[in-house]
Amino acid sequence: MGQRHSGAPAIMTGTPANTSPARGLHVITWGCQMNVYDSARMGDVLRPLGYQPVATPDAADMIILNTCHIRDKAAEKVFSELGRLRKIKEARETAGQQTIIAVAGCVAQAEGQEILARAPYVDIVLGPQTYHRLPEMVARAARAGGAVIETDFPAEQKFDFLPEAEAPQTAGNYTAFLTIQEGCDKFCSFCVVPYTRGAESSRPVLSVLAEARRMVESGVKDISLLGQNVNAYHGEGPDGSTWGLAQLAYELAKLPGLSRIRYMTSHPRDMDDALIAAHRDLPQLMPFLHLPVQAGSDRILRAMNRGHTADEYRDIVRRLREARPDLALSSDFIVGHPGETDEDFEATMHLVRDVGFALAYSFKYSPRPGTPAAGAGMQVPEDVKDARLQALQALLREQQDAFNATLVGKTIPVLFTSEGRKPGQIAGRSPWLQPVHVSGPKHLIGKELPVRIVERLTNSLSGVLEEECVSA
Ligand code: SAH
Ligand code: SF4
Ligand code: F3S
Repeated sequence: MGQRHSGAPAIMTGTPANTSPARGLHVITWGCQMNVYDSARMGDVLRPLGYQPVATPDAADMIILNTCHIRDKAAEKVFSELGRLRKIKEARETAGQQTIIAVAGCVAQAEGQEILARAPYVDIVLGPQTYHRLPEMVARAARAGGAVIETDFPAEQKFDFLPEAEAPQTAGNYTAFLTIQEGCDKFCSFCVVPYTRGAESSRPVLSVLAEARRMVESGVKDISLLGQNVNAYHGEGPDGSTWGLAQLAYELAKLPGLSRIRYMTSHPRDMDDALIAAHRDLPQLMPFLHLPVQAGSDRILRAMNRGHTADEYRDIVRRLREARPDLALSSDFIVGHPGETDEDFEATMHLVRDVGFALAYSFKYSPRPGTPAAGAGMQVPEDVKDARLQALQALLREQQDAFNATLVGKTIPVLFTSEGRKPGQIAGRSPWLQPVHVSGPKHLIGKELPVRIVERLTNSLSGVLEEECVSA
């Protein structure tokens, strides 16, 4: 969360004859991986208009703020960032350079009108389902000189209207995100996603396979399939039948060169037998699964409308580990959901102790406008939430450290993706997504090689290349 992603540094080296003159595009991305994916796709949609990524907003003819609404003062954060962007826009316009400001993502979807009212210098407001219409919006904004807003949920699927992701977007990247499913119909009591991303829908199998193939051809070896409920995937197959995520994973595993497949975020309710079997059958399916449970008390799980009990979650984990013994789990937790007592919270701690997580994200419950839990009675006081969060995070930290410690002394495959922070180092990721640093030559970047882990650092591992790789 809170991650910024501004694309590659400025590339302003001439323009192909059949496109418009080069213009700078700066995208600021907050929120989940789906927003990271969407930001890249907005760049693809705008490229034929001559837009190329620039590293700073003051060099940009168009600035897109891709927002997240999931917690806390999401809207306030947007307005404060817009205040900063307004100054940049004004300075540029004084110098005779037009600047388009667009607000995209989940805050745009939820509070589009409010944005236009409070920040009239914003030119375009667009929800997550309409970014394929950006070129038309840019033209309308230029013509009308007024704001353009697109926050309907269109009947068409944006994926059907997107240009192919261009090679530069993935070239030199060995890992990539691929959105296969959008939206959510589950309506958990606390969550805005069903309102901001709309109803659940899946991309057709062939469209996913084509994009994966292009990624692999450009050098990608590790693909993360994305969706708010990615394991609820039910895409139309080539023969007209409906494919689940397991079937899609078997097909992707046939792509030569694709050595790692991941998917996130999964819902326990959609963890079906076929998908569990895929973890047993497919070595490409990485042994690391993000499976949010949110709470360990059945009473709170019911209040949250999660649709499963704590024991059902334990049972899913047991079956997954049976299928893939080296599988590690990560999760999300919310403390202080309305009605959560000390006893309920203890049940969460109990579940954490039972399962053992390699990684976890935990949050204080944050009331979201328009969601059922926001209006519920028995809101938990802030200081109680603080204390619970602290206790939970201490336990989760212990578990994360313990998991990382189990890898010290072991040899594991590492996909090298970049140079390391120190000279002479290269860095990559383990099957469990930990960053791993080793001393090694740059030409090994892009390769997956065995590394003996020698040390556990706070959030990463360091190791040494196995002998035969050093001379490779
Ligand atoms: N689809 C995923 C979650 C997506 S939102 C799932 O069903 O698990 C990512 C995480 O943000 C959630 O797992 C939850 O832990 C957290 N979150 C969502 N709404 C929240 C809220 N109102 N307050 C605090 N945390 C929240
Ligand atoms: Fe939100 Fe629940 Fe849907 Fe996840 S499953 S996106 S938490 S409503
Ligand atoms: Fe945030 Fe929207 Fe993702 S609310 S978490 S950007 S789906």
